[in-house]
Amino acid sequence: MSAIIKAEHLSFAYPGDGDTPAVPVLHDVSFEIEEGSFVAVLGHNGCGKSTLAKLLCMILEPDEGILYINGKDMTSEDITDEDIYDARRRVGMVFQNPDNQLVATIVEEDVAFGCENLGIPSEKIRKRVDEALDTVGMRKYARHATHRLSGGQKQRIAIAGVLAMRRKCIIFDESTAMLDPGGRKEVMDTICRLNREEGITVIHITHYMNEATLADRVIVMNDGRIIMDGTPGQVFSCADKLWEAGLDVPQTTELLWRMKEAGYNVRLDIFDPEECASEIAKAIAEKR
Ligand SMILES: Nc1ncnc2c1ncn2[C@@H]1O[C@H](COP(=O)(O)OP(=O)(O)O)[C@@H](O)[C@H]1O
Ligand SMILES: [Mg+2]
Repeated sequence: MSAIIKAEHLSFAYPGDGDTPAVPVLHDVSFEIEEGSFVAVLGHNGCGKSTLAKLLCMILEPDEGILYINGKDMTSEDITDEDIYDARRRVGMVFQNPDNQLVATIVEEDVAFGCENLGIPSEKIRKRVDEALDTVGMRKYARHATHRLSGGQKQRIAIAGVLAMRRKCIIFDESTAMLDPGGRKEVMDTICRLNREEGITVIHITHYMNEATLADRVIVMNDGRIIMDGTPGQVFSCADKLWEAGLDVPQTTELLWRMKEAGYNVRLDIFDPEECASEIAKAIAEKR
């Protein structure tokens, strides 16, 4: 396994001007993202998640530290325009608001837009657009008007646009936050499928703890630093630390934690409701 992204000691502040002071946001952030992995990023509002995402997509540049994309040091002095182009082609982003990221009025034109900007020949674009729409399950909407789609469908179109550009790593910045439960499930199912079946590396920034339990790994940020990094089981088992950072835990974790506090012998790393119920039943039976 190789790292598609490697961050070493990244720091970043939004520069101030005459009247406003600089805003330090990220402090000494280091991690690696393995190719093909599914990583969830948690952290309260304003802790620096979107800023980090923008550094990884090279929309912003770090003040300190080194960022490697596919093994290449993007912060080096000798980096060429071609290297930057190549790295940008690997890592893409899907944003929060489904209404702000669609640019064309017809679905297939919207999905093609990014490819057209890359200067890809039109016969190739046609094929890529069809494939991308298939992957997100929206092929039959190819000629529909984008503004008439539901929020979840719009997000799937935004994902198709990123896929058509053949990106290997997609950062979802709270892409489910503005959706209703149905739309959220549609998008999460799509994200999971992209990761498992297409081998796309996923970095999913979210406030929904149940979404984070679907990842292979959870990174928790607090005030511009990484405070936890592990499997969902490892991270959520430390519920007290998450509560301290102003975050929630999955409902199953909270229930099991309360049981443990009440003296029952239960595991904390269970997220499936039925499994959670049998763990509790077992613990109660043991105590009798
Ligand atoms: N363009 C900007 N200029 C100045 N400060 C900013 C800008 N964007 C974000 N910030 C500040 O940086 C901090 C981190 O923001 P952000 O990365 O958006 O956090 P999150 O995505 O975790 O909510 C916040 O304090 C926010 O107010
Ligand atoms: Mg954000």
